[in-house]
Amino acid sequence: MKGKYVILTVFGTRPEAIKMAPLIKNLLTSGEFATKVCVTAQHREMLDQVLDIFDIKPDYDLNIMKKNQTLACITKMVLENIEKVLEHSKPDIVLVHGDTTTTFAASLAAFYAKIPVGHVEAGLRTYDKYFPFPEEMNRKLTACIADIHFAPTYSNYENLLNEGINPDAIHITGNTAIDALKTTVLDDYKFKNAVLKKLDFGKKRVITVTAHRRENLGEPLADICNALKKIAMNYDDVEIVYPVHLNPAVQKPVKDILGNTPRINLINPLQVQDMHNLMARSYLVLTDSGGLQEEAPALGKPVLVLRNETERPEAVKAGTVKVIGTNCERVVSETAVLLDNEAEYKKMAHSVNPYGDGRASERIVAALRYRFGLTENRPEPFQHAAY
Ligand code: UD1
Ligand code: UDP
Repeated sequence: MKGKYVILTVFGTRPEAIKMAPLIKNLLTSGEFATKVCVTAQHREMLDQVLDIFDIKPDYDLNIMKKNQTLACITKMVLENIEKVLEHSKPDIVLVHGDTTTTFAASLAAFYAKIPVGHVEAGLRTYDKYFPFPEEMNRKLTACIADIHFAPTYSNYENLLNEGINPDAIHITGNTAIDALKTTVLDDYKFKNAVLKKLDFGKKRVITVTAHRRENLGEPLADICNALKKIAMNYDDVEIVYPVHLNPAVQKPVKDILGNTPRINLINPLQVQDMHNLMARSYLVLTDSGGLQEEAPALGKPVLVLRNETERPEAVKAGTVKVIGTNCERVVSETAVLLDNEAEYKKMAHSVNPYGDGRASERIVAALRYRFGLTENRPEPFQHAAY
């Protein structure tokens, strides 16, 4: 007789870990599956920060990260090293998350081993193959391989349908990012980071900034930094907090342009509780991150997206997120509108939650039970009134 079905979760970077953590917890507490965790460690320190906070102890650690790694190198290292993990753990399904190179390479390796793949956070699209790069293509290729698709929103579901994916294989679940957020943000939270401990959130308007994406490296990132410098110069009641990604191609220009600038706090990557509570206490968020575009709207914080396109249009439609690109003057002027015009600020500063209700992991576990015949009931989809 077959024992418990084996579920192998595979992830490698900070955002994947944050968004897979609630699902792993749910799988473990359900007790119905043998749940295994494999990290590629495409990120090292930034991944370990998350594993620590959520107390996840990987069964397998491929430890592949190299300084200034290339996409080909990540792909090759994952493909080569994960083969023996698949042989050893013999999963009934491999679960991957999102759009990183770990996601795509792990899916490909599972396919080569004829192991079914479940894709968490499926169906987000810009339909521009180079934006975000290489994430748009990673996510599309993973969809081609996947056997079961966990689409956060209805529009993600529609994208998959339009690509010919069988609707029976798609579950609309909400985004597990919101599950994580529900556990981290606390009214009486005490920051661990020394800079955040000292910030006077009552007197200062705090702008949280992150920028790290490959398509923004070089000139766009320099433009963003120059814009931040002008904003800090123009407003003495503003404090900018920028936790700088560990990529040397981000660290160097950011520190060169913004080091020792009054009212700009360049800090190390924050552990996730500090990060979420920082956003919850901020005035607004400037970012090129995918995850922040989902989290900030749930916290009622306006977001200016430092990219030309987004695969997360729901909060843009809801009016709390605006895609502004990276042009220095535009970043300064759009930020000024929100700092100077209370009515405009209020229009954007309301809490919406098109991305989830905190129960995405629960629905994914229910969908897996359904797939493996442990229940006859297909889980109800996540529904958001407007989307
Ligand atoms: C990766 C993902 C991107 C995701 C981002 C989240 C790909 C191609 N890109 O991009 O989709 O948005 O993670 O942050 O999958 N580094 C460290 N320590 C760390 C992490 C990174 O030193 O803990 C440095 C290393 O020098 C590494 C470099 O950052 O080579 C870049 O990391 P990489 O994973 O290749 O790209 P990201 O820009 O982080
Ligand atoms: N985050 C964090 N510490 C930081 C910056 C971001 O914990 O210093 C969290 C953030 O709240 C979100 C996720 O990391 O949950 C986003 O990761 P990232 O911006 O690296 O990747 P992306 O979302 O762009 O893929």
